[in-house]
Amino acid sequence: MAQIRIRNTNERIEGEEQVKAFLEQQGVLYEHWDMSKYPAALDEKFVLNDEEKAHILSTFDAEIRDLAARRGYEIWDVISLSDATPNIEELLTKFEQVHTHTEDEIRAIVAGKGIFIIKSEELGYFDVELVPGDVISVPENTNHFFTLMDNRQIVAIRLFIEKDGWIAYNVNDPDFVKA
Ligand SMILES: [Fe+2]
Repeated sequence: MAQIRIRNTNERIEGEEQVKAFLEQQGVLYEHWDMSKYPAALDEKFVLNDEEKAHILSTFDAEIRDLAARRGYEIWDVISLSDATPNIEELLTKFEQVHTHTEDEIRAIVAGKGIFIIKSEELGYFDVELVPGDVISVPENTNHFFTLMDNRQIVAIRLFIEKDGWIAYNVNDPDFVKA
C-alpha cells in the first residue's frame, strides 16, 4: 500500500484509509489492484520483451478497461526500468524535473517501486511511495515528477487519453525543495 511523506514537515501518512483520504483531498485518484495474479514467471524480472509486456496487459485487461471506461483512456502500454535500462542515469536526471501535463498522468505499478512527488497548493510537495498494485493519477496541470526508489526497479502500466497529452512542460518552481 502506498505511503505519503509531506516534505515540508516530514510527516508520514500510512494505512489504506488514511492514504486514500489524503490523496482524495488532493484531487489525486488512488486505487489498488489485486496483484496475486501477476504472472509468476515474471517475478523479479525488470527487463521485459514485447511478449512479456503483452502478457502483463492481458492479465490486467479487465482492470485497464474499467479505468478506461471511467476516465476516457484510449491507449496503454507497459514500461520497465532498472539498472539494466541502457540510459537509466540520463532518464532519471530527465525525470527529476518538476513539470506538468495537459492530461492526467496515470500509472499502475505492477512490480518494483517508485515515487511520485506532487505539489499541493496548501502543503507544498509530498511524496507518494508506490508499491505493486498501487494505481495513481496525478491531475492535469499539477506540478510533479516521478523517480525510482533505492532498489531502482519498476514495471508499470501507463494509460493515455492521447499520446500528446503526456508532453512535459517543465516548471522552475522556487517552492520546490529537494528531498
Ligand atoms: Fe509527468
